Amino acid sequence: MDLFLTLLAISIVGVCGSTKTELPPISHTMFPEGFIFGAATASYQIEGGWNADGKGPNIWDNITHERPSFVDNNDNGDVAADSYHRYKEDVQLLENIGFQMYRFSLSWARILPNGRVNNVNQPGIDYYMNLIDELLAKGIQPMVTIYHWDLPQDLEDIGGWTNPEIVNIFEEFADLVFQTYGDKVKWWITINEAFMVTRGYGADMFAPAAYLDLHGIVEYQVARNLLLAHARAYRLYQKKYSHQNGKLSMAFAGYFCIPATDHLADIAAAERCYQHTYGWFAHPIFVGDYPSEMKKRIDLISKLEGRNASRLPPFTQDEIDEIRGTADFYGLNHYTTNLAADGVDQSSSDPNPSSASDTGFISSADPSWPDGAASWFKVVPQGIRLHVKKICEEYGNPEIIVVENGYSEDGSNFTHDPGRIYFLETYLGELRESIYTDGCNVRGHITYSFLDSFEWKGGYMDKFGLVSVDFNNPNRTRTMKNSAHWMRNYIEMHKIYYQ
Ligand code: BGC
Repeated sequence: MDLFLTLLAISIVGVCGSTKTELPPISHTMFPEGFIFGAATASYQIEGGWNADGKGPNIWDNITHERPSFVDNNDNGDVAADSYHRYKEDVQLLENIGFQMYRFSLSWARILPNGRVNNVNQPGIDYYMNLIDELLAKGIQPMVTIYHWDLPQDLEDIGGWTNPEIVNIFEEFADLVFQTYGDKVKWWITINEAFMVTRGYGADMFAPAAYLDLHGIVEYQVARNLLLAHARAYRLYQKKYSHQNGKLSMAFAGYFCIPATDHLADIAAAERCYQHTYGWFAHPIFVGDYPSEMKKRIDLISKLEGRNASRLPPFTQDEIDEIRGTADFYGLNHYTTNLAADGVDQSSSDPNPSSASDTGFISSADPSWPDGAASWFKVVPQGIRLHVKKICEEYGNPEIIVVENGYSEDGSNFTHDPGRIYFLETYLGELRESIYTDGCNVRGHITYSFLDSFEWKGGYMDKFGLVSVDFNNPNRTRTMKNSAHWMRNYIEMHKIYYQ
């Protein structure tokens, strides 16, 4: 193969009629051999079948049925892309595009209708087994997310992620799924975006939109339980399932910021933006305990508020040790970049603190950054490279897989989505720089989303899919967008070089 690349380089030089070429080295235009390309979805966003074959209700079923206006256009996931019934078509499309990995999540209440292992729903177990078998038969590796935001309603009724008992309950669920699927699944994400899960408690960004008057306190309790639940699942796998040879991580999320100016205060604000969001979860796992500046800041603010204890409850040394070292790779969710300035966002009329106000940054965007359809979305390719570099530096160059990255449009041009192609081409290009120029250990890229899907509070208007779904058609007809065709060629190119 080296000879092939050498000959290719010689032929390019020849065509240019010069012995000195300005082209980058061929290795910079390709990903390293073994680099994985995948696509991802999440159960509530695509499956539908909300009460099919014994599935129990979850917090998203509940909030969309009880409070339809919670979601734009009163949309819900009752049918969504109907992947519960159409998964074979989905796998066929994944194969057509050439993906080597499919990341999907388990609907907890489909497997355990009331969230507990004393009541297992066999059709739910079978659904995921069939999906996994279908993927493996086509040579596509499953990456399974155990929890992507659809908590069984019965568990929410006992306090959901605020109740410390959830740590044991999650461990039991993880035990069941490792035991059931672990022979076939080698890639696991315990929890998707723990940071965003905190935004459903004390804030109404996501279901259950509960404990709104406890913000500033409840987010930190929830985060603590999420980290302990993750660590339990990881330790359990180490003890009981290490022979399955799988790799586990979380999918980390938050805000990635660059300073709005080069003033020291804004540089510090950008650092806080990272440490209080991504770092809140990644630091305990890769280094141990919460980031020290985060602890100091919340301790101080709590004192100034006249409290005798910090709103950020500390971990014990045993808990720090239990959580540290519980990831085999860094699962990175990255979409956009923000500019950070020092200060507190004054748009909220609520004078009480929250985890967001504790962070103390005002977010903005550079006017030159192109928009996506989602209100928070800006296209900033260089951001992903800076972000990956930050991870390498903070956590000792871990193996990184980008487990979510993608672009939203409004779908008005149906399958014509040049914005998504531009996004993927430029972000993937920056990732190559992360690998070859910055020396970071990036092993894969997973596009979000494989299908147009239920985009949480945005309903069906924000379209993240490589594949369009006709939500007005009972057959939920799927059509590959131009970006899916582009992706197929992109992956195929790599096969040509590395087969
Ligand atoms: C979530 C996805 C969501 C995507 C785009 C991520 O935070 O994991 O479920 O669709 O962002 O909003």
